[in-house]
Amino acid sequence: AITVDPSAQGAAIDDTMYGVFFEDINRAADGGLYAELVQNRSFEYSTADNGSYTPLTSWTVGGTAQVVNDTGRLNARNRNYLSLGAGSSVTNAGYNTGIRVEQGKRYDFSVWARAESGSTLTVSLKDAAGTLATARQVAVKGGWAKYKATFTATRTSNRGRLAVASTAAAALDEVSLFPRDTYKNQPNGLRKDLAEKIAALKPGFVRFPGGCLVNTGSMEDYSEASNWQRKRSYQWKDTIGPVEQRATNANFWGYNQSYGLGYYEYFRFSEDIGAMPLPVVPALVTGCGQNKATDNEALLKRHIQDTLDLIEFANGPATSKWGKVRAQMGHPKPFHLTHIGVGNEENLPKEFFARFEQFRAAIKAKYPDITVISNSGPDDAGTTFDTAWQLNREGKVDMVDEHYYNSPNWFLQNNDRYDSYDRNGPKVFLGEYASQGNAWKNGLSEAAFMTGLERNADVVKLASYAPLLANEDYVQWRPDMIWFNNRASWNSANYEVQKLFMNNVGDRVVPSRATTTPNVSGPISGAVGLSTWATSAAYDDVKVTSADGSTLLSDDFSGDASKWTHSGAGSWSIQDGQYVQTDAAAENTMVTAGDPAWKDYDLHVKATKKSGK
Ligand code: AHR
Repeated sequence: AITVDPSAQGAAIDDTMYGVFFEDINRAADGGLYAELVQNRSFEYSTADNGSYTPLTSWTVGGTAQVVNDTGRLNARNRNYLSLGAGSSVTNAGYNTGIRVEQGKRYDFSVWARAESGSTLTVSLKDAAGTLATARQVAVKGGWAKYKATFTATRTSNRGRLAVASTAAAALDEVSLFPRDTYKNQPNGLRKDLAEKIAALKPGFVRFPGGCLVNTGSMEDYSEASNWQRKRSYQWKDTIGPVEQRATNANFWGYNQSYGLGYYEYFRFSEDIGAMPLPVVPALVTGCGQNKATDNEALLKRHIQDTLDLIEFANGPATSKWGKVRAQMGHPKPFHLTHIGVGNEENLPKEFFARFEQFRAAIKAKYPDITVISNSGPDDAGTTFDTAWQLNREGKVDMVDEHYYNSPNWFLQNNDRYDSYDRNGPKVFLGEYASQGNAWKNGLSEAAFMTGLERNADVVKLASYAPLLANEDYVQWRPDMIWFNNRASWNSANYEVQKLFMNNVGDRVVPSRATTTPNVSGPISGAVGLSTWATSAAYDDVKVTSADGSTLLSDDFSGDASKWTHSGAGSWSIQDGQYVQTDAAAENTMVTAGDPAWKDYDLHVKATKKSGK
């Protein structure tokens, strides 16, 4: 039975409550949401990104060509370029099975080229069956300059190749092919089907640019020529301005990131889909299993200043230093940034918090209205998480970012997680969560859990499933919400759940109480199951009642453990009157061996979970 009291006033639910978490993982950006069709367009792939990469990954050479890194380069941040011999060609294979083109659609080619004595480039789109568009000729002469051509595909193909042939010696860089048809027709834009799927969720916010990729890698440098070093942490200033001047980087997830989809594009996309932008900046402590904190004061100051500059980039007038950069990129109006995350899953809570406080002080001094979000570290159900929460509580932070990935049963059993959170403490941003799988039961368990988030909307202010996107041929993490390859995209059951909640955000919680779960009918051979998944889970006061309220079974666990049997891993014992799982964190079902006289009853099972987060 569900009891609802419509006159009772529950918590208000913010329109921004449910959002999306975008991370460049599983090729979510290049080869994914970023519509660029050429892979390794600036010849910057390196073994530092991935042991199997070379600067010619995804390219094949006909004739003579080599990748060069010398003073003849395009600019200081775009180190490598291709030196193509006379009468030679290069061909790009795109992502997945190749470059996808659709009959009748237009594609914009561009290249930076240098040919002191002049050359003619022949640019063609083809697949194994032949030509896919009329080839274009581009006359090149003199120093580095950008050249363009447009194709209309005469045939649809998922296996297209882009070829550039040169009559004379020429240098090439930033070889690019974009569909004309990007999301909202934005230049340097986003792949339409993926952007539309995200937009259809109607997310309240977009958290970007990721989790682990934000704060792992070297904190030390930008990508200037003088201190060139790969595997830099994600720094927003590396990702803005003309794309050929954005240095690529080794992505934490094992590939190369072009930064073609950068901070300007994240803000613009958030605006295009009516979502609040929510960037996360590195706090100079590495997370994700890397336990390092940077003690360089000057560097810390520089990162704090970068964060202030980011807020000015987003919100400052077009006359301000960074507002002007935004305006020059095409957006004179502000992006209305109101929330910013500092750090992601740091494993060193004390070191993290000491630095977080300095970021927060500087941000609040200049922008007192910005919500500065801290985090709880990884949810290890133990020391790191508890220490981080204690520091956040004592430090009176605005909001704490929590992350967890667990079994469907865990989500079902932890619906009450936030019922006991301090109403006067920091608010919660559930920045990453997912049950382990993309099956229907996963979506269902997440939906059940989300009712608990919503019931606690006075504490849980923001929540985003993670990760958002996965290219099926380049997977580092699963499950994921939206799947795709170079030609198609499809939604998971988890996506449908998110869509249901995001498209139907209520105004206010109406307090309710459910008393019938699970509903079992028919003979069940004298057993009732309670599933659990957690290390050191403990249960107390189990009660099974029939629909008419009469008690079929009750156990306060003060007695005999042998009354119960289990399926699954782990061992259980009775300790201090509680039924406790003592070792493995594994799927487990505890079953009574008693024989209450139930048959065709609705069973009401109630147990109090005593420990666990
Ligand atoms: O969502 C995938 C990863 O999970 C994120 O990068 C990280 O924050 C978390 O551990």
